[in-house]
Amino acid sequence: MKAERLAMLPPYPFALWSAQVAQVERRGVDVIRLDIGNPDLAPPDAVIESLCESARVPGNHGYGGYRGLGALRHAIAGYYERRFGVVLDSDVEVLPLIGSKEGIVNLALATLNPGDVVLVPDPGYAPYAMGAMLAGAEVVTLPLLSEHGFLPRLDTIPDAITARAKLMWLNYPNNPTGAVADLGFLADAVAFGRDHGILIAHDAPYCDVAYDGYIAPSILEIDGAMDVAVEFNSLSKTYNMAGWRIGMAVGNRGAIGALAQVKSNVDSGLFHPLQEAAICALATAPAWVEARNAIYRERLRILVDGLLGMGIVAPMPRAALYLWVPVHETPGTGPDGLATMWLEEAGVAVAPGAFFGPSGAGYVRISATAPTERIHEAVARLRAVMKV
Ligand SMILES: Cc1ncc(COP(=O)(O)O)c(C=O)c1O
Repeated sequence: MKAERLAMLPPYPFALWSAQVAQVERRGVDVIRLDIGNPDLAPPDAVIESLCESARVPGNHGYGGYRGLGALRHAIAGYYERRFGVVLDSDVEVLPLIGSKEGIVNLALATLNPGDVVLVPDPGYAPYAMGAMLAGAEVVTLPLLSEHGFLPRLDTIPDAITARAKLMWLNYPNNPTGAVADLGFLADAVAFGRDHGILIAHDAPYCDVAYDGYIAPSILEIDGAMDVAVEFNSLSKTYNMAGWRIGMAVGNRGAIGALAQVKSNVDSGLFHPLQEAAICALATAPAWVEARNAIYRERLRILVDGLLGMGIVAPMPRAALYLWVPVHETPGTGPDGLATMWLEEAGVAVAPGAFFGPSGAGYVRISATAPTERIHEAVARLRAVMKV
């Protein structure tokens, strides 16, 4: 009963892993989940109030509109102008999404023909490749290596690939590596897209989860980016609203229009009260975001220091929610076995790096999205099984 195209999709690694975690939990182990990037903290109070208030208005329960409320598109454009100095036409360069994952997959359906090449980062967020596969496109991976700051080497992509490529995914601040990209790299990416007729899709859901004064740029700050680039963004991480399902695509109007065309045939827009709450969220004072980031920073620091005590050196990231931990040389464990050993023996779930692509082998990703006392407890349990 399954479509043939599903046979091309590898099983979603996290689904298999979750089953393994569930098995350990069934044995009665209280597993500390540091494997998924699911924010544990609450959104701002005003956002929740706004949702409730709007939900009490009888007229707010119909379809929310294919392109979302004009006021929401305005609020998104206002955020881009305040945050990045990027001016957007909210009628044609802004599209609200039912979470950015939805838009990422639908962009593939909107822009790719069977046989087109899509360039995706390895390691990287799985839906970039999955969307391409659903569209019948060919996925070519761009290795992100530590020696290049986890940035892809655009100058080493073979001409034969570049000639067939229609879309390239970039993601900074990066999941899973925590790497960041400066404006120089983003300018190179825009030039690469322009020179080769490739749409550059920059996925930036972690742009406001940053530490120690780091401020992440938008690709749309680059001159000429509107000609070749779209950016995906999300309220999931910035405002702890992952379950609410609200994100945005902004930038090149041709790509935004094509995405809107797919979406108008697939979904019927966002719940009106959710859109009002999103408007409220986008007006959140930067101090709220900074205070929340200070909590993540403390957790990441506890993990970095704890791992160091076990002889594992993990760099403190400048942004995003993750530690990308090289474990190739951790004594007594094979690289792929470490995450399983930690799960089975310590009841601490981290994500095996290979879940994010072949270049992730030899790493684990540890997420800071558990309460601080659970992070302390995780370090204590890991120290016990690592016998340090
Ligand atoms: C790089 C990246 N892009 C997109 C998303 C999806 O975000 P959303 O909740 O807006 O669908 C995630 C979620 O973890 C992510 O890590």
